[in-house]
Amino acid sequence: MNDTFLKACRGEKTDYTPIWIMRQAGRYLKEYKEVREEAGDFLTLCKTPELAAKVTHQPIDMFGLDAAILFSDILVVNEAMGQDLKFYEARGPVINNPVRTRKDLDKLRVPDPDDELGYVMETIKLLRRDLKVPLIGFSGAPFTLATYAIEGGSSKNFLNTKRMMYQNPHLYADLMDKLSDSVLAYLAAQIRAGAQAVQIFDSWVGVLDPSDFIEFELPYVARIVAGLRSEFGKEVPIIYFANNSASLLREVKKTKADVIGIDWRIDMADAVKQIGKRFTVQGNLDPLALFLPPDKIRERVADILEKAKPLRGHVFNLGHGVVPETPVDGVRAVVDAVHELSGK
Ligand code: CP3
Repeated sequence: MNDTFLKACRGEKTDYTPIWIMRQAGRYLKEYKEVREEAGDFLTLCKTPELAAKVTHQPIDMFGLDAAILFSDILVVNEAMGQDLKFYEARGPVINNPVRTRKDLDKLRVPDPDDELGYVMETIKLLRRDLKVPLIGFSGAPFTLATYAIEGGSSKNFLNTKRMMYQNPHLYADLMDKLSDSVLAYLAAQIRAGAQAVQIFDSWVGVLDPSDFIEFELPYVARIVAGLRSEFGKEVPIIYFANNSASLLREVKKTKADVIGIDWRIDMADAVKQIGKRFTVQGNLDPLALFLPPDKIRERVADILEKAKPLRGHVFNLGHGVVPETPVDGVRAVVDAVHELSGK
């Protein structure tokens, strides 16, 4: 097995810099769209292990990526907790019973992941049979899941979420407790099923100011990391991806994740300065840079690789997910550039 990715996460020496790409299985691939068509709707695709495994494989075989990420969605946890989730083509995800009151929260449960999310465990087991690269499991971070739970979908300014944080802090804390228990149990089940690393996606955490991050998200993420660590030790790397986190990085380290995922808005050299050498850093090319010609992509990759050199470990990635309009040649160019320039 190609274990370069796991070694880089653990801070061990590697022959070259490994790369995987957030949202690497998705609509920029016509092969994905065909399987998605076959499944009918997106949630059915997530819940059909054979098809979910198939789309997980697609980008690995096509581009020679160094890790696979389980195909699923962060919002299946909200659904398993009792929220009514639908995905719409234009609007994205919608939750029809958002949490606004104590009564709403009381109706949500901490799911048994092997039961209510059993299809995810099934997908993981299928994948581990024939994958030649490590498999990353994932979950949304409690705050990001809370924004969907409370807002009922995507949001511009997260008004309902912040209103609950500020006006009803006990309700917010109880929701976050329930979410954190669910995420911890879910990630532990994924690891037992065969996931070799896990990533916690905190897509919306960048809307918090540093003091709110410390009060309203850090303790919950730290609790999940500590819980996984006590059960699985240092064997299974934990990646915490905090999107839009340039102003939070000093605090983000306190989660004690092994790998800190950063977005593209911060220069890698600044990130290295703030995060220091005790962590592996993952990132951080602008996803839209994949629209550049191959020689320009190569220049940007070279710059990031150079600046990441002082780190204990570097896992190359985009600063957020690849967008559906991305040219496939751009994806090929970034993978090849990372491998060639780092000595593969
Ligand atoms: O990275 C991968 O390849 C694994 C698959 C994956 C998906 N969603 C597939 C998906 C992962 C890791 C996610 C995580 C996810 N889902 C996040 C965190 C990462 C991030 O991008 O910030 C978030 C915020 C979501 C919630 C979500 N799912 C939204 C807002 C949407 C609609 C917007 C969009 O991109 O369409 C989704 C749908 C979704 N999740 C799709 C895919 C491939 C598109 C569904 C389709 O095929 O129509």
